[in-house]
Amino acid sequence: MVDKLEKALQKAREQRQAQLDRQELEQRNAPPPPPGALDSNFIGSNMVELEDAYLEKRHIVAHHTRHIEADIFRILRTKILQTMNQSGMKTLGITSANYGDGKTTIALNLAVSIALDLKQTILLVDLDLRKPNVTEYLGITAEYGISDYFLNDVPISKCLLRPSFDRMTILPAGQVMDNSSEVLGSPKIAALAKELRARYPDRLIIYDMPPTLVQDDPLAFLPNVDAILMVVSDGVTKVHDLKQSLHILAGANVIGTVLNTSAVQGQSKRVAKVISYLEERFLNPDKTSAQ
Ligand SMILES: Nc1ncnc2c1ncn2[C@@H]1O[C@H](COP(=O)(O)OP(=O)(O)OP(=O)(O)O)[C@@H](O)[C@H]1O
Ligand SMILES: [Mg+2]
Repeated sequence: MVDKLEKALQKAREQRQAQLDRQELEQRNAPPPPPGALDSNFIGSNMVELEDAYLEKRHIVAHHTRHIEADIFRILRTKILQTMNQSGMKTLGITSANYGDGKTTIALNLAVSIALDLKQTILLVDLDLRKPNVTEYLGITAEYGISDYFLNDVPISKCLLRPSFDRMTILPAGQVMDNSSEVLGSPKIAALAKELRARYPDRLIIYDMPPTLVQDDPLAFLPNVDAILMVVSDGVTKVHDLKQSLHILAGANVIGTVLNTSAVQGQSKRVAKVISYLEERFLNPDKTSAQ
């Protein structure tokens, strides 16, 4: 029985690996982006003002000084920067098992925290093309985004937004798309990801991804990220779901977990009560506080 299960898992792993290999090959041979789509003004000049009170309501707090949650994000930032810089990694995908686990909240806080590190610039990309939230959580509107680049060749410089945090750029999702996994697995998007990665040597890219158990989008985009950070919702994410997600992500470089809680703790809502950044949690998922 155990043998059978192990064989089935092994087969699933091999099939996934074969799919990833196929995608990687396709993406390596991706044609260059259409002329004009990646123009020289790649930084984008669309400055947008952010409102602090609104950010607070949306639990974007990493820019605060003397704030316990901001401190937690600084710790996460430091660990992530150490890990990524040491091994030359530049792109980080943030995902979780299910909807609503806190991916976008963590992605935004982490991006803000990294932007405040004077040595680092950050590009945050909203890759949740079906349910994008990044600009909404910042209280800003975006005219264009990735899907507009994909569908209509809108130049990337027109899509990029510069919120009023130094060293931070946002690439919004754009118009909502239902067939997003085909889009995210396409050679055109792979070429874009490659170009974004290569453009600035000192810039990190965070991809706010959809959940792994609900959509196959994260899998489709995996060849384009160097590392994955997994968000676990405290007391909500089931161990089974976490294990399942890790099987789906087999072959990806999962560098850690963030335990996020939106549960009311006493009187105050915590943005990220505990940050666990230990692979050990993956190796022994039963030890997580997930149910
Ligand atoms: N630590 C937290 N404290 C309070 N509220 C939180 C916390 N984390 C997330 N939330 C809230 O929970 C909701 C879901 O969070 P968020 O959108 O970040 O999750 P998500 O995983 O990106 O969801 P989706 O899968 O729909 O994209 C949002 O309303 C967000 O403000
Ligand atoms: Mg989200």
